[in-house]
Amino acid sequence: MTRVPTLLILAGDGIGPEVMAATEVVIEALRTKAGFHVTITHDLVGGASIDAHGVPVTDAVVEQAKRVDAILLGAVGGPKWDALPTDVRPEKGLLRLRKDLDVFANLRPAFVFPSLVGASSLKPDLVSGLDLLIVRELTSGVYFGEPRGIHTTPTGEKIAINTQSYTEGEIARVVDVAFDAARGRGKRLCVVDKANVMETGVLWREVAHRVHKNGHQDIDLSFMYADNCAMQLVRQPKQFDVIVTDNLFGDLLSDCAAMLTGSLGMLPSASLGAKTNDRQMALYEPVHGSAPDIAGQNKANPMATILSFSMALRYSFHRPDLADRVDHAVASTLADGYVTADLTLEVPPKAVLGTREMAKKIADAL
Ligand code: IPM
Ligand code: MG
Repeated sequence: MTRVPTLLILAGDGIGPEVMAATEVVIEALRTKAGFHVTITHDLVGGASIDAHGVPVTDAVVEQAKRVDAILLGAVGGPKWDALPTDVRPEKGLLRLRKDLDVFANLRPAFVFPSLVGASSLKPDLVSGLDLLIVRELTSGVYFGEPRGIHTTPTGEKIAINTQSYTEGEIARVVDVAFDAARGRGKRLCVVDKANVMETGVLWREVAHRVHKNGHQDIDLSFMYADNCAMQLVRQPKQFDVIVTDNLFGDLLSDCAAMLTGSLGMLPSASLGAKTNDRQMALYEPVHGSAPDIAGQNKANPMATILSFSMALRYSFHRPDLADRVDHAVASTLADGYVTADLTLEVPPKAVLGTREMAKKIADAL
């Protein structure tokens, strides 16, 4: 018998605890229906951790995160902590986890479920069948570059500084992951940057060409400026297969791609580290935020978190069979006409469900 895998759940803030409870209903159903066992531990991150410990993530949680097979994170942040300085805000907990675990490759798939074609803000023919993957660099760039800060100049004026920087190694490893991902899909990779104005973009292109020559020549490689990419995503999104880009452009473009699919509430993500001795750090989280406006009302869409757990089944627990089963359960629940309040179908829905009721429907569909 193989070892029981371990999962650390960090529900976080806002709707985080609700979508996580819903996901645990699905995990429990996998246990009873498919005999899937996973050892789960729970801890705090974000505002919840600030309230309990004064910091957005404790050293103990970071150490625990390094030991488990996968981490599933809900969402962080909310108005309660908005006035705090940047270095102690809830978001810092998430950023520290990403950095300390070195999960540099953030996979953000955007696909349109057939029944949700009408929920997109774009015309149905533009998004029907859409399936693209954004690979976002997650542990470098302007999010982490030094120097940074707000200082006062000799004339007494304030100046704010952030630094965009990338080493060749940081670019090469994420581009390599993106080539591999493209190989399992449509075999096309688009590198997105601002090489027309930024040196980091120039280096991204140079390194991408080199990595391409080094074992990835079966993949079609192209380049696009980030502003054009934003435009192309809303003009003709089906032209893309895999996009690889830096931390900040990836943040922006993935929100844009997410909305094409009908709702931010649908999209999962996986953040993966380097593979060493069969081990790979992995942090899974929905692309959406903590949605404080609907927190605690049983309204949140739990599907992005459930689908994030499905990505954990695929990449960390090596159970693609169960991942498919979860994905199908979500798709069939939607196809049966069950939605949460954030979604609109082309036909009137059978029922608009709350978070808990949706979890139960999906668990039943497994
Ligand atoms: C995301 C979020 C985060 C980011 C925030 C919450 C720090 O927007 O994961 O896309 O900017 O990376
Ligand atoms: Mg974002």
